[in-house]
Order: sequence, then C-alpha cells, then structure tokens
Amino acid sequence: MSKPLRIGVAGLGTVGVGVVKILAARREFLAAAAGRSIDLVAVSARDSAKSRGIDLDGVRWENDARKLAAANDIDVVVELIGGAEGVAREVVETALANGKHVVTANKALIAHHGISLARAAEQRGVAFNYEAAVAGGIPIIKALREGLAANEIESLVGILNGTCNYILTEMETTGRDFGDVLKDAQALGYAEADPSFDVGGIDAAHKLAILASLAFGREIDFGSVHIEGIEKITAADIRFAREFGYKIKLLAIATKTDGGVEQRVHPALVADGSPLAAVSGVFNAVAVRGDRVGLLVLEGRGAGEGPTASAVLSDLVDIARGLVMPPFIVPTSHLKQPAKANADKSQSAYYLRFNAIDRAGSMAEITRALANAAVSIERIVQPGEQGDTGRKPVVFVTHKTEEGSMRAAQTHLSRLEDVAGKPLVIRIEDGESR
Ligand code: NAP
Ligand code: HSE
Repeated sequence: MSKPLRIGVAGLGTVGVGVVKILAARREFLAAAAGRSIDLVAVSARDSAKSRGIDLDGVRWENDARKLAAANDIDVVVELIGGAEGVAREVVETALANGKHVVTANKALIAHHGISLARAAEQRGVAFNYEAAVAGGIPIIKALREGLAANEIESLVGILNGTCNYILTEMETTGRDFGDVLKDAQALGYAEADPSFDVGGIDAAHKLAILASLAFGREIDFGSVHIEGIEKITAADIRFAREFGYKIKLLAIATKTDGGVEQRVHPALVADGSPLAAVSGVFNAVAVRGDRVGLLVLEGRGAGEGPTASAVLSDLVDIARGLVMPPFIVPTSHLKQPAKANADKSQSAYYLRFNAIDRAGSMAEITRALANAAVSIERIVQPGEQGDTGRKPVVFVTHKTEEGSMRAAQTHLSRLEDVAGKPLVIRIEDGESR
C-alpha cells in the first residue's frame, strides 16, 4: 500500500463531526478502496473545550485554522467552517498556495470565488473538490463532471435546499407554522449559520450557480441568479395549491437559451405526480436533461451530518486514489464568459393570491387589470375566508404568460384601491415530466 493520505479538518460542526466519525468507522474499507489509509492528522475549530462526541486522541488540535492549512504534515485540507469570506476563504487560499489538495462543502465560497480558487488549484496541480457543496449526499458534481461528460446539458431543475423542502413539507403535512418548523431544521443541523440564506433562497442560488457553470461550461455567475425565497408562503397557499393539484417547492432552474443562460430560484407550484412534487422533507433532487441521455433524476438527502459527510468522503477517496481533475470539468481557461438570458420573455402559468374588498365591481376591476397586462385567467377562487385588513383572499391561476406581463399585472393590481398590498405571485412549473 502507498503511504497514507494525511488530512486536516478545519471546522468540527455538523459536517466536520460527521467526517471524523466516518473516517474512524470505515477506516479499513476506505483504505482498501483507496489503496492507502486516510489518516486524520489535525483538526481546528473555535472552541477546543467543546464536547463533540468524537474521539480525537492522537489528533493535533490547531487553534488557528490557517496554521493547519499551511502545516507540512498535511496533504489535504478539508474546509468545513463556512462563509464566502473570512477564515474559510483564507484557509482554502492558504492550503492551495501551499500545494495542498482542498475538499470543501462551502457553496457560498465557491459561488463567489470558485473560479479563482479552481485556477489556483490547477496552477499547483492539486485537487479542489466540492461534492458536498451541492445537494448533500447526492453525487451530482460527480454525475456532471464524469458520468454526463459526453452530453450537452439543456436544462437543470432542482430542489437544492433541504431546510426549505423540510419546512414546506412539514407545513403541508402538519399545518405547523413556518418559524416553528425552521427551529426544528436548525436543531437537526440542516440550516446555514444564518438561516435567512436558506429561507431567502440564497443557499439554493449558490448551489444553482455552481451547477449551471458545470452544466453549461461557463464561469460561475452568481450575480445573475434571480432569487426569491419562501418567506411569504403561507399555510393557506399550500392548501390552495393542494386543492388545485400541486405542491409548493423551492425550485432552482438553469436553462440554456439562444440569448444565454437563465438562472432562477423561486417557490413554484409543481404538479402532483411529477418527479419533483414527490420529493419531501430534507430530500433534494436534481433533474438534468442531456442531449444524449435524456432526462436523469437524482434524489437523496440534501443536508445533515451523514449525507454531507458521505459526499466529503467521496472526494477524499478520489484524492487518495490519485484522481486530480479540473474542478469545473474543463480547465478554467476553457470556460466561456457568463451570458445572462433575458428573463422577461420566459413563459409560465402563475398562481396569484391577494386580499381584496368583496364588493360589486371589484372583481371586474381586478380582471381588467390582468387583461390590460395581457394575462389570461384560467381559474378564480374566492374561498370566503376573512383575510387581514378586512379584505377577503382571492386566488387566480393564469394561463401561460410572459414574465414581463406578469410583473406588469402585479404592479397594476397593487395600485387598485380594493386590493391590499402587492399580490403574491408564484410560478407554476411542470416539475420535469418524463
Ligand atoms: P457548523 O455546524 O456551524 O460548524 C462550523 C464549524 O466551524 C464549527 O465547528 C466552528 O467551531 C468552526 N469554526 C467557526 N469559525 C471558525 C474559525 N474561525 N476557525 C476555526 N473553526 C471555526 O456548520 P456545518 O453545518 O457543519 O457547515 C459547515 C460547512 O458545510 C458550511 O460551508 C455549510 O454551508 C456546509 N454544508 C453544510 C451542510 C449541513 O447540512 N449542515 C450541508 C452541506 C454543506 P466551534 O464548533 O468551536 O464553534
Ligand atoms: N442549509 C443547507 C440546506 C445545507 O438546508 O440545504 C445543505 O447544503
């Protein structure tokens, strides 16, 4: 057997602890699979006194993670601290500058600095692996980087945030409040350090930007992702959607168009019976369409200790086997510049919900406002419940319309005296039919 692969783990939270546990529990198997043992040499976290339920006997503790990243006795630095800037970024940059392989689960860091970090890794001939950064335990990076390399990818649709999918599923099945369920997701180790990244759609957008770069051979373009979160979704929306035959999911969608790449993250009504509607709880799914393979749907747990650590270990085994690949499939010098598609022309049907005064003529004004924006109505429901501000909820489902028209309709409606506030608008997507 070759000499051991010596690793240092920076960050011992949900994911870091999971990695240490698997390294110990699967030590012999991993050594056989990789052809050499994978040895944990050093770790770093903020609080050396914290009890973590792992055995760190014989493992060096470094108070400063940057020191760990530069240590001579480490071949691979595993960054599991998190955040696009600060210590996490310094750790990764230090490790690469010192010619060490890097494994990270940090999608924020990659979405913002992935290309320059990949360039640094290529210059030093080391690996920069990040399977755990997207969709937890689903090997989607490997699928795009290796299994689907022969394909031109046409579109990619995913449920990429476990916390949001867990919250939406719990709200639907138990009727519990948003805030209450979010606390559960945090306790289970699913949420980001700042959970507004999850519920605001930013975490899913980080992941989408990474996948879109891999899928379409372009540099990462996080700034062009259209982002909406799930904060405005109520239990009533979930109930109406169910009555219409849909589930509400936070979708991340990247599509190649003639004008460039469209990237968007937003809640969507997804038809019952479609593959993505069936994805529940902390599960994620990614549906990829390739020109040769057709539709491929991968599903699995998207967050939490075990699934995420599993993905980190797959990266470590690759490195132990001597596999060093360009981090974004092709060398960074071959990646095309980002090109953002014009979203105004993208078409979908919409769900619209707002509160309005129930009086003679108000519905006529509302439908006129929609007609003036060239939005055609498929269904209207007035559930008869009392909403806030004394107005009653009204729900519309529209026929397919251009995004620009729907934005205009939203503005017209919010200016009507009988309508309270800005209407909630949710796209209706097909959830990837086979
Ligand atoms: P976490 O539980 O909050 O753990 C973060 C760890 O970083 C803690 O051990 C903390 O130390 C340590 N840390 C913080 N500042 C540090 C510093 N200045 N120097 C050294 N260590 C420091 O986070 P996590 O959930 O494990 O997530 C880690 C990374 O994985 C993030 O990039 C996250 O986005 C990503 N990720 C997480 C999941 C998930 O399901 N949780 C899934 C996929 C990807 P103390 O323990 O001493 O406070
Ligand atoms: N907070 C993230 C999520 C962790 O809930 O999906 C996995 O990336």
